[in-house]
Amino acid sequence: MTQDELKKQVAKTAIQYVKGLPIIGVGTGSTVNFFIEMLADIKGDIEGAVSSSEATSERLKNIGIPVLELNSVGDIEVYVDGADEVDPRKKLVKGGGGALTREKIIAAASKKFVCIVDESKCVDVLGKFPLPVEVIPMARSYVARELVKLGGQPIWREDYYTDNGCEILDVHNMDIVNPMELERTINDITGVVTNGLFAHRDADIVLIGKGDTVDTVE
Ligand code: A5P
Repeated sequence: MTQDELKKQVAKTAIQYVKGLPIIGVGTGSTVNFFIEMLADIKGDIEGAVSSSEATSERLKNIGIPVLELNSVGDIEVYVDGADEVDPRKKLVKGGGGALTREKIIAAASKKFVCIVDESKCVDVLGKFPLPVEVIPMARSYVARELVKLGGQPIWREDYYTDNGCEILDVHNMDIVNPMELERTINDITGVVTNGLFAHRDADIVLIGKGDTVDTVE
């Protein structure tokens, strides 16, 4: 199977987790895009979705699913999103698509976070994928210097602005042996909006598309 076929396979499996739910949370990225396409088949049952990015909102609206404000709904039953890396303890690196902050907010407000990945995303130790850090623009250089002190090599995602009007530093060569501690340490740097480590609010369920099967890690 190609990587896209694996993404489709896992996206299809995730549909069963949202069947019958009036309000769901929807993440961002190429894997989730397949999930959104498949939502079209059950859209009659869906009152609306809370979206993690402008790109996802656009796609949801295009298939006729209303986009709801997080502030106007209570806790969300299920949030479905992809990841850039997943470790065996369901800790994640996210934000390759730049939507990490809204993704983290929706994950926090959701009772169940179902993460959908193809098997290429599975790693023993997080950190090979550069860790995205969203920063307030005026703080970019200061935050970059602090990240260097932590042992990383931050690269500015030039000419890129998040949906929140902020910038991204992609931190290379981080040794993420303790994701819980590193998530907190980076978020404590003044000027950081958030970072792409999902260790404190990790996934509840990871679905891994492998071709012959989809593994479920709970
Ligand atoms: C978006 O900012 C990311 O967190 C995505 O969820 C993540 O990058 C996975 O994207 P793909 O499904 O495109 O690999």
